[in-house]
Amino acid sequence: MRLNLNIWRQVGRDTAGRLEDYAAADVSPDMSFLEMLDVLNEQLIAEGGDPIAFDHDCREGICGACSLVINGQAHGPDRETTTCQLHMRRFRDGDVITVEPFRADAFPVVKDLVVDRSAFDRILAAGGFVSVNTGSAPEANSLPVPRPDAERAMDAAACIGCGACVAACPNAAAMLFVAAKVSHLALLPQGEPERRARVVAMVEQMDREGFGNCSNHFECEAACPKGISVANIARLNREYLRASLGSRES
Ligand code: SF4
Ligand code: FES
Repeated sequence: MRLNLNIWRQVGRDTAGRLEDYAAADVSPDMSFLEMLDVLNEQLIAEGGDPIAFDHDCREGICGACSLVINGQAHGPDRETTTCQLHMRRFRDGDVITVEPFRADAFPVVKDLVVDRSAFDRILAAGGFVSVNTGSAPEANSLPVPRPDAERAMDAAACIGCGACVAACPNAAAMLFVAAKVSHLALLPQGEPERRARVVAMVEQMDREGFGNCSNHFECEAACPKGISVANIARLNREYLRASLGSRES
């Protein structure tokens, strides 16, 4: 296939960016989207140009590092698929493809298609953990968890922290990400001791980072490569209300 690419180029955080045209020839339908960019970068390097910066790590849909907006959709056109798992067979010969970074005030562009998502790390550091006593692991049956709760907790734990929910939201809200992290721990007995303090701290950090608020567009769920349900946002709101009305120490 031969493709016409419009790719966002930006030298740094404080410089203006722009879309630039590139022609990608000999693209195999079996290439992943990132492999197609690798080939384009080899071509740019061979011509003495500056390769296009983009984030990636596992390329297996599990780490959350890849982060492109492809033709206006975070992670591209396939549902529940990260950019690294998107394949060029999804496109047709001669297609024009626009590639941009995840856009949100809280995710400033570092270079080209790479954005700084450390705001998520700070939200997690504010409360996305459990404090446990050291010692040997407790006997599994000493903490029975009802099967439906375990299923819901594991579904929420599938969040890979990619930030597509923020990029897809018209308010650049991080509610689905925070909701997944809060739900994962709130549904399990291990998360109970810090349950109230956790949700308040994580929501306060989310606000400090400059993310917007949820207004029920549900674009986050549509863009999420792990199928995280907006039902978790409803749980986050309940958890926050409950914690705000009670003591933050328990
Ligand atoms: S909720 Fe989904 S889209 Fe948002 S960070 Fe987690 S995996 Fe990515
Ligand atoms: S590179 Fe790890 S999820 Fe895409």
